[in-house]
Amino acid sequence: MSVFDDKTILITGGAGFIGSALVRNLVRNHNSRIVVIDKLTYAASDYALEPVINAVNFVLEPYDICDGSKMDALLEFYRPDAVVHLAAESHVDRSIDSPGAFINTNIVGTYMLLEASLNYWSGLSLDNKERFRFLHVSTDEVFGSLGSEGLFNEATSYAPNSPYSASKAASDHLVRAWHKTFDLPVLITNCTNNYGPYQFLEKLIPTVISKAIRGEAIPVYGQGVNVRDWLYVEDHVNALKRVLADGRVGETYCIGGSCEKNNIEVVTTICRLMDSLVPLSDNVPRESLIMFVEDRPGHDARYAMDTTFIRDSLGWSPKESFESGIQKTLNWYLAHRHWWQDIIEYKFDGKRLGNGERLSVRNIHNPI
Ligand code: NAD
Ligand code: DAU
Repeated sequence: MSVFDDKTILITGGAGFIGSALVRNLVRNHNSRIVVIDKLTYAASDYALEPVINAVNFVLEPYDICDGSKMDALLEFYRPDAVVHLAAESHVDRSIDSPGAFINTNIVGTYMLLEASLNYWSGLSLDNKERFRFLHVSTDEVFGSLGSEGLFNEATSYAPNSPYSASKAASDHLVRAWHKTFDLPVLITNCTNNYGPYQFLEKLIPTVISKAIRGEAIPVYGQGVNVRDWLYVEDHVNALKRVLADGRVGETYCIGGSCEKNNIEVVTTICRLMDSLVPLSDNVPRESLIMFVEDRPGHDARYAMDTTFIRDSLGWSPKESFESGIQKTLNWYLAHRHWWQDIIEYKFDGKRLGNGERLSVRNIHNPI
């Protein structure tokens, strides 16, 4: 018997990359009822939920978290023991081209979900109020950019630089305020870069893998020296489960892979592994496909996380090394070509995003 058995857990963004990994894990391993609320944007994947879609303990509700009365109704109907909030616009480059959706979903949507959760929570019995949790899943990008030394931790000041990270920072502040002011029992996590199966092709690692498989030019922003701390998605899922089960109400937990790599290191590792698995027909090394392109505006130099607190207080640490995680990821993308080839055909052709060409127009009828 685990703490998740016989519980109803409502997961927003459960059709996305990390959300669907959490859903698959919970449905497979626990006797809990999982309710996913997901607007099914371009980033969602039906296929990522296919393994659980017919499970008796799984429900998909295809709604927008910005619809406050719908959120009220869903919470009243399903009466969850916990809300895990992952729904977001998640891609930094898209936030540069088109910030409006980020303000809407990440800020207004989080507000709507907090209000619905508070309304629902206020009407619970004392025991159920004590047990309820609202887990807000956020990012290390809210802390801004590090120089060559130092690590982010739970005490780091917020200094977001992109429209994406600013919108996530705002959502973190709202969640904290709903706890401090209204007593809603919240938990916040801030995690570093994830990678693994079902990640949408716009992100660095799936971009490199899909282009390397097809022998296409691999775009590296600037000089490729920006550093990220990489975590295999299943390790993030296990961290979220630990926080949900035993995290202290009102606390923030920083999650990371303790695995710093600059982008060019990531890209060359993937190229070499791919050469050994599936050489190009003319045996051309894939590193020759690397193309340095114009840098991302406001590109954060380095992210890295001190995970002492979650390790010491909750006993969590990552199981995968970068070597084992990236190997699993490559194998998955090789075995699931139809998944990403459909994305290329119907959703995203791999074109450069985030070079500052504005795609949305702000006017009086469309203020954000
Ligand atoms: P994703 O883009 O793959 O998935 C986001 C999901 O949210 C999609 O299924 C989408 O349909 C849904 N969604 C978007 N707008 C919605 C709305 N208005 N209403 C309902 N659903 C909506 O994102 P991801 O990479 O899985 O990230 C999930 C969460 O984790 C995000 O909050 C992100 O900020 C955070 N995070 C991501 C990473 C990472 O490396 N990917 C790292 C740290 C934190
Ligand atoms: O740090 C956590 C964050 O990680 C999450 O909150 C975000 O949701 C997630 O998208 C991710 O943000 P990044 O901007 O770090 O990820 P991305 O994969 O877009 O880029 C990783 C690095 O690679 C970054 O330095 C930009 C660079 N890059 C990216 C792409 C898509 C390239 O050099 N070439 C590319 O084609």
